Amino acid sequence: MATEINIPEDSVLISRTDPKGIITYASPDFLSISGYEEAELLKKPHNIIRHPDMPSQVFKELWSTIKTGHVWTGIVKNRSKSGDYYWVDATITPLKESNQIIGYVSVRKNPSRQDIKRAESLYASMHNTSGKKNFFDRLFEKPIFQISKLCASLLGVFFISIFINALGFFFSLF
Ligand SMILES: Cc1cc2nc3c(=O)[nH]c(=O)nc-3n(C[C@H](O)[C@H](O)[C@H](O)COP(=O)(O)O)c2cc1C
Repeated sequence: MATEINIPEDSVLISRTDPKGIITYASPDFLSISGYEEAELLKKPHNIIRHPDMPSQVFKELWSTIKTGHVWTGIVKNRSKSGDYYWVDATITPLKESNQIIGYVSVRKNPSRQDIKRAESLYASMHNTSGKKNFFDRLFEKPIFQISKLCASLLGVFFISIFINALGFFFSLF
């Protein structure tokens, strides 16, 4: 069973990436907690440490924030090489040169238990509600339904024009 790795108070887990999220630097604390050798992380995409409990919307929001040059902060659950997990309080900052983003740096610290609990229940609720489609959502997505919707609209326009013509005819009798 996966167990939680507690990050010591004085540890700072730092990584740097290129603009595409490919790891270019990993600090000794990051290597030690994640359980990877430096060579196993360098030149790898940062999702190598992604934990499946993390909802994809969190990363969408992360990327849209940092790509536009802003700083993102959040509580993230990561998976270690051994399959265990650790929570981090992360701050990701874009690195700029002549106003161009040349990469990103993430500085991670030990989050408080309260922050972990809050993030854990928020992420669990995001998994339960989003991305899950019910029977009708899936049915209405099918192309045949899209075409039927279009036909129904055209039919609607057709009947309305018949109705208007009939009304015109009816009033023309008087
Ligand atoms: C500097 C930086 C640090 C990142 N740190 C993490 C991290 O600690 N854990 C994580 O799962 N994703 C992290 N990401 C986001 C990943 O690039 C990726 O978007 C995420 O793991 C989701 O994977 P996916 O985009 O393949 O769905 C980081 C990205 C950047 C730019």
